[in-house]
Amino acid sequence: MTVRSNDSAPDLSSKDPNWWRQAVIYQIYPRSFADADGDGLGDLRGITQRLTHLATLGVDALWLSPFYPSELADGGYDVDDYRDVDPRLGTLDDFDALAREAHRLGLKVIVDLVPNHSSHRHAWFAEALAAAPGSPARDRYVFRDGRGEHGELPPTDWQSVFGGSAWQRVPDGQWYLHLFTPEQPDLNWANEQVRADFRTTLRFWSERGVDGFRVDVAHALVKDLSEPLRDLGDPELSSSEALDRLPAGSHPFYDRDEVHEVYRDWRKILDAYTPPRMAVAEAWVPGVRRALYARPDELGQAFNFEYLQGGWDAARLREIITGSLADAHAAGASATWVLSNHDVVRHATRLVLPPGTDTDAWLLAGGHAPAVDAEAGLRRARAATLLMLALPGSAYLYQGEELGLPEVADLPTEVLQDPIWEQTGHVRKGRDGCRVPLPWTTEGPSYGFGDSGAWLPQPPGFAAYAVEAQDGAEGSTLELYRTALRLRRKLLAGEELHWATDAPAGVLRFDRSDTWRCVTNLSAEPVDLPPGEVLLTSAPLADGRLGPDTTAWLGR
Ligand code: GLC
Repeated sequence: MTVRSNDSAPDLSSKDPNWWRQAVIYQIYPRSFADADGDGLGDLRGITQRLTHLATLGVDALWLSPFYPSELADGGYDVDDYRDVDPRLGTLDDFDALAREAHRLGLKVIVDLVPNHSSHRHAWFAEALAAAPGSPARDRYVFRDGRGEHGELPPTDWQSVFGGSAWQRVPDGQWYLHLFTPEQPDLNWANEQVRADFRTTLRFWSERGVDGFRVDVAHALVKDLSEPLRDLGDPELSSSEALDRLPAGSHPFYDRDEVHEVYRDWRKILDAYTPPRMAVAEAWVPGVRRALYARPDELGQAFNFEYLQGGWDAARLREIITGSLADAHAAGASATWVLSNHDVVRHATRLVLPPGTDTDAWLLAGGHAPAVDAEAGLRRARAATLLMLALPGSAYLYQGEELGLPEVADLPTEVLQDPIWEQTGHVRKGRDGCRVPLPWTTEGPSYGFGDSGAWLPQPPGFAAYAVEAQDGAEGSTLELYRTALRLRRKLLAGEELHWATDAPAGVLRFDRSDTWRCVTNLSAEPVDLPPGEVLLTSAPLADGRLGPDTTAWLGR
């Protein structure tokens, strides 16, 4: 395979302030990556020991999901202390060693910031519970009296994302707001102490050498808390998916215009470092409103969940890609692409579920109805990944996708840890099926994850996906990712994409520059390849033609 060098490739060296605009970022879910101390739970030292995996994979950065002290009521997104490490995962010294080693290997480090809510074990919440209604300690959260004759009804009809009322009553009769679990009380962003404390947290990690932040539920921080609090009228409007049914900026807790002030304030802090610290918003907000979070004077990037939800349909994907690029461009941001993360069914499985499948019902049926063809899923996932990696902007990978891991849909209900299972009264199994610890070796108690078992059981089929099984194996998914990332680094140029006007139906074809062309066949029939030297394909060509569910990269 010949690869032409490209002089205009972006500078990904440590000082480039724009290193993130077209970076590949690898998400680590720390509890499921590697377990150095053998307690069954992944830890920071485990990550440090395995960093060479990321360096040889060829990613630019790693993003660590929360590793802070936590009760794990929501997998670590319930933070007790924003400026410390969970003792089960290590110490601040272990974090420093991780960051040092990552930087030595040329990898940037991004941490997760969870500003919408703390854990109920946070010192502030303990203070709030001990203090009287109306006190300054309660004002850091959202406490209100209930409705009804004795205040026995929640203050509003707002629903939690995980099911049930978003309000929880405390012994003195008041209620507090929790958009997620009751163990995750929402912070009050109208309170100056809350704002000041997060500035301190941003500086704390920036000074420890962190290169950027992923901002959890970035669209929810600022609420309309003017009295009287207003009902939504329809519980379904509590979901961010219903945002496009309401006038922009009018939802009482999602995507309010005032939230952008918070990010403009943060950008000043992040820009005080060299290079400026990057940030990416997790904002489940449709289209152009989402791009606002990514403006240069705010966070810089926002995850593109429309692409993740786009399925495997050429016309729809083309529309989403074009729209996302236009939105990002209008905001002065670079686009982002993601196919898998710790909250969704892995794409090696999801992409072959029939369109419209209710994934909750499918998971409840143990992944059996409808049945999934794992081989077809992997073929599609590989094609989808090469397509994603050819798009202008940053690609976010989720640990294990480089191994082609499928969703573990048949986890027995007694091992489930996701609060969604209990909070929905056993209607939704939740997200554990994409959080099963990684297989590193083909044998051993947890396939090399650690010396003992794993906190979620790995199915025997995981052995075939292990890093050890795929390392150096021709045609393996791991080698495909490695080759693709190496090539991408060489081919990257500009942030432009030019669609071919003569691609057949069901085929996506575009040029990135005068050196790089990508074609994906989403139709059921083989198609002819466009002109160009074949650099890489996601599956072998069929008599020189591009088979169904296959992507090719070509030089021009
Ligand atoms: C984000 C996280 C998810 C978590 C939720 C509450 O959506 O990705 O895992 O449950 O926020 O913090």
